[in-house]
Amino acid sequence: MPQATIGVIGGSGLYRMEHMTEVEEVKISTPFGDPSDVITIGKVNGVSMAFLPRHGRGHRLNPTEIPVRANIWALKSLGVEYVISVSAVGSLREDYAPRDLVIPDQLFDRTKSRVNSFFEGGLVVHATFAEPFCPHLSKLLLESARELKDVTVHAGGTYVCMEGPLFSTKAESNTYRKLGMDIIGMTALPEAKLAREAELCYATVACVTDYDCWHEAEESVTVEMVVQNLAANVKNAQRILQNVAQRIPADRAQATCGCSEALATAIMTDRSA
Ligand code: ADE
Repeated sequence: MPQATIGVIGGSGLYRMEHMTEVEEVKISTPFGDPSDVITIGKVNGVSMAFLPRHGRGHRLNPTEIPVRANIWALKSLGVEYVISVSAVGSLREDYAPRDLVIPDQLFDRTKSRVNSFFEGGLVVHATFAEPFCPHLSKLLLESARELKDVTVHAGGTYVCMEGPLFSTKAESNTYRKLGMDIIGMTALPEAKLAREAELCYATVACVTDYDCWHEAEESVTVEMVVQNLAANVKNAQRILQNVAQRIPADRAQATCGCSEALATAIMTDRSA
């Protein structure tokens, strides 16, 4: 089986990696079922990467249906240590405009119907999640994004993850703004939680496609709006991925983020009892 240290989970609009060479497709089964699609492994700028389209090719899976445990398990089984998520988001603030990119640093969970842990059936694990995105990987993504001189990139922001599949009401959107949320999407959770439990570094490139529905002067979000703006910023996300491939260290030994030891002190169950 081919291996890769870097995994990319592509969201809406990102169904294949551009500029990937030596491409192989692998079909993986996991104890949690099949992942969203086959995983493509190949070289980007000479570096091995594994690519998985989160919604499946053809966008068949809605956010609630995504087999997130299978996706994270499958990437880990290929040797992945760094997971880069690319996802479309709405903006909850004026200065994060459509077609901008955001590397968020916080998450707020508004999902309702998702399994968000690998551990069940007698094994209780409480991993630290105060910093839900790996600061080390987020910094590398930010450095790569800042090299794109024609793109506005925002460092940090709180991503509120809603259940969907319908977009928010105005009351919800305005409430999130009052609570200090910056961007809204439907997929960062439970992905970030499961990546932490799998001791992977996980960070997100959020592509702003709309102003959700709070903005008085802008039309409320529609699929058409998301698709149109995505075409532009997915291209930029691809440029970031090519650049970051060169910056990610081949092994995580020097990383101080602690992601690779997230479970070291997290297991509550007394397994000798
Ligand atoms: N993805 C893109 N735009 C979104 C929005 N406004 N709300 C939730 N998810 C989104």
